[in-house]
Amino acid sequence: MLASRGQPAEEWPPLSHVPRHVAIIMDGNGRWAQARGLPRLAGHRAGTENTRRIIEACVEFGVPMLTLYAFSTENWYRPREEVDGLLDILAEVIDRELDELHANGVQLRHLGSPEGLPESLRRKVQHAVELTRNNTRLTLNVAFNYGGRAEILQAVRRILADGVRPEEVTEELFASYLHTAGMPDPDLIIRTAGEMRLSNFLLWQAAYAEYFSTPIHWPDFGKADFYRALCAYSQRQRRFGRVLQ
Ligand code: IPE
Ligand code: IPE
Ligand code: MG
Repeated sequence: MLASRGQPAEEWPPLSHVPRHVAIIMDGNGRWAQARGLPRLAGHRAGTENTRRIIEACVEFGVPMLTLYAFSTENWYRPREEVDGLLDILAEVIDRELDELHANGVQLRHLGSPEGLPESLRRKVQHAVELTRNNTRLTLNVAFNYGGRAEILQAVRRILADGVRPEEVTEELFASYLHTAGMPDPDLIIRTAGEMRLSNFLLWQAAYAEYFSTPIHWPDFGKADFYRALCAYSQRQRRFGRVLQ
């Protein structure tokens, strides 16, 4: 799957700043399908194929962590057929790609709640995470049944259940109760298909992320588009509230 292995890399001018963590809101699968007179699920399948390209591109461009927003807590409210199709696609992708991802040194992490997922899918996800836990080439977080608000609420509940005293609740402690515990915050959030909103994605972690929105639908968002987003990022001046001298 990772074509960069053993094959000559294409020439892409080096980037001055490469983000440590890129998070992508993979949007526009439905519109991609609609524009072709196909059912929405065909768009989701095409979108899933595209994730392979972008995973490869991360390895090639030296991005060590990628988070893909695949299914939100609000996506449960879509028609049953679409929801079932999306659950099936995730299960199929794990079955089909896990060995190769593992062989290529990809560490898989799940962001979101296992609750509500079918038992067989929960087991597949757990197995994938355990199998790949020591891999270091690329960390791939799959946000599935993920919502930023739900994540924050479960953190609050666990903090209270642990009997943490109010004065002990620091930003660091709070972050350690999120699904992203121990990970760097996203430096760059890319959204395809043109919307300018977070849709409940990484609400806490996105505080100082740079945003990049493109009208391209996710199934059409290729390596060159990804490279353009990384170029835009490398030209941003990040101030974190300070005044630069
Ligand atoms: C993104 O594509 C994938 C998921 C949200 C699961 P959409 O299905 O939201 O595509 P559009 O926005 O309807 O085009
Ligand atoms: C965000 O896309 C969720 C994912 C990409 C998984 P949506 O299509 O669900 O977001 P809205 O409804 O346009 O805000
Ligand atoms: Mg959408």
